[in-house]
Amino acid sequence: MSTTRREFLALQTVPIVGAYFHNDTLPLLAKSLDRVRARTPADLASDEDFWIQIQNAFSVDRSLINFNNGGCCPAPTVVVEAQKRHIDFSNHLPTRQMWHVLGPELETVRERVARAFGVSPDEIAITRNASESLEIVQFGLDLKPGDEVITTTHDYPNMVNSWNQRVKRDGIVFKQVAYQPPATHDQIFDAIAAAVSAKTRVIHTSHITFTTGQIGPVRRICEFARERGIECIVDGAHAFGQFAFTHKDLNCDYYGVSLHKWILAPVGVGFLYVRKSKIPAIWPLFGNADPGSGDIRKFETYGTHPFAAKLAVSEALTFHQTIGPERKEARLRFLRESWVAPLRGRKSVVFYTSDDSATSAAIGTVGFRDASGEMLDPGKICDHLMAQHRIVSTPISSPGVKGIRITPNVYTTKEEIEILSESLVAIAEGGIPTAAPAVPPTAAPAGPDRPKK
Ligand SMILES: Cc1ncc(COP(=O)(O)O)c(C=O)c1O
Repeated sequence: MSTTRREFLALQTVPIVGAYFHNDTLPLLAKSLDRVRARTPADLASDEDFWIQIQNAFSVDRSLINFNNGGCCPAPTVVVEAQKRHIDFSNHLPTRQMWHVLGPELETVRERVARAFGVSPDEIAITRNASESLEIVQFGLDLKPGDEVITTTHDYPNMVNSWNQRVKRDGIVFKQVAYQPPATHDQIFDAIAAAVSAKTRVIHTSHITFTTGQIGPVRRICEFARERGIECIVDGAHAFGQFAFTHKDLNCDYYGVSLHKWILAPVGVGFLYVRKSKIPAIWPLFGNADPGSGDIRKFETYGTHPFAAKLAVSEALTFHQTIGPERKEARLRFLRESWVAPLRGRKSVVFYTSDDSATSAAIGTVGFRDASGEMLDPGKICDHLMAQHRIVSTPISSPGVKGIRITPNVYTTKEEIEILSESLVAIAEGGIPTAAPAVPPTAAPAGPDRPKK
């Protein structure tokens, strides 16, 4: 087979891209893992001498303590460097470097994501985030007026908005069922199953909820739906990379993920899994020459866009796999347990996340009562944590939940957990102090880039 001049030039360019890549994080990490490989993930989870290397693989602002890694997480330096390298390279001559060199490399990312999730690359679309992944299916399914869609009161607002848009536009019926977290798998399953009627066409369910980190009985719901000819869409935005599982544990037909959360990819990357046999019936969100095609790439035709973040998923997956999904899960569970344990047994504390490993992982949501038994305002707790301790946390006020969500990640240090834990114990014992914040506003003179008092 002859090589065209353009293909030849493209081939010549690839080694040059690699030539200015210097980061020894992964080899160092792999070397130190050699020393601990015989130990169990649970044993290694509390070994600070090991985790310090992971913490130092990130360039984060340690003057703030970030416990909102659920929204999206900082990427390790090795990932950020890969992204920058792709941006620089693309900018040399975007139409050529981007479309002819970097674009085809996306197939490697597709293959690696597919291997990590345990499916075929033909079933993986690389998207910008979980919202896009899930909305492709939400808007791509043929539904007629009166068809019912069921989800819960703990599912993500973007997804709820999408269904409500179909209510307005297509006359479908949308039902959100309630359950009280922390819930057992049976409680979640029963709440959903009880809402199913002869008109139900879709069940939309979170693998793990954004409100409390509640893990749901995904496999059971998917199989229940399939037996009744109901489509089941699974929101895996928070699940993939937080705890160890693959597709065979879920047996789902549709699964949407944000890779900028727990896989530690740069912001703006996700994936959509669609079972091969289901692809032709889903309309692409963006127009396509062959909308009924069985090629998963029909979901990626949204015009000119950068490849840098998407390609850096390869480094993120390598980082994730070098640590090992089971070791990472054990460390994340250990971190959660470290701040939760001192709060246990206190009357003023309400846990919205269970201790059961089948229904929870790294995320914990907790609320606090005042002396009269009233729940403290989550927004005020988060404001206090920021003002007093420079802790970033997430207020959650949703049906049945009034608390703050804490999401650490692998770069979180023991000391950061201790500061969080001490601040939460103080709130549990004395509420939110009404006095002025202990950390005074900066003493530096006012300047054009400083907020005015
Ligand atoms: C459960 C859940 N689904 C979907 C999303 C949407 O993710 P993204 O904003 O990355 O599209 C989120 C975001 O936090 C989420 O928590």
